[in-house]
Amino acid sequence: MASSKTPETLDFVVVSNRLPIDAKPAKNGAEKWVTSPGGLVAALQPVMKGRTAAWVGWPGRVDIDLEPFSLASTHYFPVALSAVELEEHYEGFSNSTLWPLYHDVIVQPEFHRTWWETYKKVNQRFADRAAEVAAEGAFVWVQDYQLQLVPQMLRKKRPDLQIGYFHHIPFPAYELFAQLPWRADILHGLLGADVVGFQRKTDASNMREAVRRNFGYSMQKPMVRVPLRATPPRNRKAPPVTASKTREVMVEAFPISLDVQSSAKLASSDAVVKRAKEIRKELGSPKTMFLGVDRLDYTKGIRHRLKAFGEMLQEGTLKAEDAVFVQLASPSREGVEQYRELRDDIEQLVGRINGDFGHLNRPAIVYLHQNISREEMMAMYVACDVMVVTPLRDGMNLVAKEFVSARTDHRGALVLSEFAGAADELDEALIVNPHDIDGLKEALADAAAMSAAEQKSRMEHMRKVVVENDIKRWATSFIDAVKPPERKRRR
Ligand code: G6P
Repeated sequence: MASSKTPETLDFVVVSNRLPIDAKPAKNGAEKWVTSPGGLVAALQPVMKGRTAAWVGWPGRVDIDLEPFSLASTHYFPVALSAVELEEHYEGFSNSTLWPLYHDVIVQPEFHRTWWETYKKVNQRFADRAAEVAAEGAFVWVQDYQLQLVPQMLRKKRPDLQIGYFHHIPFPAYELFAQLPWRADILHGLLGADVVGFQRKTDASNMREAVRRNFGYSMQKPMVRVPLRATPPRNRKAPPVTASKTREVMVEAFPISLDVQSSAKLASSDAVVKRAKEIRKELGSPKTMFLGVDRLDYTKGIRHRLKAFGEMLQEGTLKAEDAVFVQLASPSREGVEQYRELRDDIEQLVGRINGDFGHLNRPAIVYLHQNISREEMMAMYVACDVMVVTPLRDGMNLVAKEFVSARTDHRGALVLSEFAGAADELDEALIVNPHDIDGLKEALADAAAMSAAEQKSRMEHMRKVVVENDIKRWATSFIDAVKPPERKRRR
């Protein structure tokens, strides 16, 4: 599959836990490559397009040692993980400690010292690989919560580098973050970057607050003054730092986006428009098609929205002859117990609602636990009447932005949780608190009944926001913050 020779070092290096393509075993014993799940990859892929760059990451399977390879102008540097490291770094510390802790403890985080040791070891491996492939003075962009120690590890090895870190998920309020036994080490790790970027202003201020309370560093928002010889104090409040030699670290919000033009283009292509019509027909031409698109994750509020939908059918506010709920739930983190339990819960709920209200020729909820192609997903966005995005907590939620990008016809309504980062920008959506099932039912009913004129005016407003703040703008503003353009630097 490699199309060009992989250079030894590069000026632009992205480091993320996962590569954008996962190696899956193919029948002939070779690897089959499929696009990785989640918003991180969806956002970063267009940033890499046309740029000569390195991408350092895990290829999605354990115990395989893959050679670097190149596709178009991106050069991939796979980092190998063993089965134990997958269990302790990825499923353990990343997804059973940090993920629940950073998402408001929706499920109880687990703290295990062995997991922490493996997290450090794996972070060091990513940092070492990035240090090897980065050219002198290169820009290295570290991504997300699985790699929070990498910025400091890199700075130690390669002080010549310009280091950015972007955190795709929420950063919690200090009262929650403080539970983490290794909180000082994590903050110290992040402060190795020149810029630490977050989705929302509240995330950035939560981190600055955590730094202030643990280290007492002086700051002038959004800059934090970090002593040149900083070491993480143990987990007790440190006295205010008076070091005269400091470096400045920017801790600021950079709300992520996507390639709006390319989504809009695909969504308005003949094939997608045709497929959208077919989908409605296949669903029995319902009056209202509700749609949910998520990774199957307990943060996404899938249960809350299906419960609300079930109650509406029960109460007669909606009729199963008129309405259908299509829920796409892509398989995710199936090695983690809470995810397996969630799957059972959701499937039981879907079964119950369909048993009570479905018809021979159409269930009330069409539930697909599958990965579907980008084209098919676009056709779903175009086909639906009401897009339902109700996370209990979410860094950004690019599904909401992708839906808006896809609706070049200015139709459709968006029901959006106030706890998704996207709610800061998409304020013309019907904003809900997903824990408030009655409020959610009202919003779903209002969305289903929304006039074409109101849909148009809300959609136009939201489209303007996403078009103006697309992924190029996000990437440029972040990169400029790390590497000020010449003219700024000269001042
Ligand atoms: C979220 C996270 C990403 C992660 C993605 C998919 O978007 O912010 O870092 O890659 O989910 O999750 P997975 O565990 O499959 O990588």
